[in-house]
Amino acid sequence: MHHGEKKQQAAKAALQCIKPGTILGVGTGSTVNYFIDELPAFRDQLEAIVVSSKASEDRLKELGFTITPLNEAGSLDLYVDGADEANKQFHLIKGGGGALTREKILAAAAREFVCIIDDSKWVGVLGTFPLPVEVIPMARSYIARQFVKNRGQPILRQDFITDNGNEVLDIYNLQITNPVEMENRFNQIPGIVTVGIFAQRPADRIFMATEDGVKEKMRG
Ligand code: 5RP
Repeated sequence: MHHGEKKQQAAKAALQCIKPGTILGVGTGSTVNYFIDELPAFRDQLEAIVVSSKASEDRLKELGFTITPLNEAGSLDLYVDGADEANKQFHLIKGGGGALTREKILAAAAREFVCIIDDSKWVGVLGTFPLPVEVIPMARSYIARQFVKNRGQPILRQDFITDNGNEVLDIYNLQITNPVEMENRFNQIPGIVTVGIFAQRPADRIFMATEDGVKEKMRG
């Protein structure tokens, strides 16, 4: 089975989390796109939809959905999103699609954060996938030097500007052995908008597609 089929299976499994009256947060990426494609069948159950990116907003609008700003929606019942890596503590690396800031906000605002992945994303130690970091453009070089001091290798994502008008540094060669501590520490560097480590607010539930079907994992 190729990655696309697995992503679709994980996405379909997450549909069971939608209940009547759900205020839903929708993430970003190819796995989430499969989830979005299934949402028309659940239209009656969705009280409101909030999105983490312009890309997901456009896809939902094409299907006839109205998007509610987070400021109007209040708390989310459910947030569904993919990830670039996940570990057994349900800590994640996110931001491969560059939507990490709004994704972190929606994850924080959600009662339940459901992550949909295929098993290629399941790792022992986070950091093989380069860590995305959204930065204020004028601070880019300063921030890059701070990561070099931490033995990381920062590369500016080419021809890419986030929905918030910022740039993304992808940090290679980091061994994220203590995700909570590293998320906290990198958050202190001036000019960083968001670090793509999702550990202080990990996922609550993971649907992981494997060759043997979708495995459901609950945190705690
Ligand atoms: C976007 C993300 C995505 O969830 C992550 O990159 C996974 O993407 P995909 O589902 O395409 O593999 O964090 O910022």
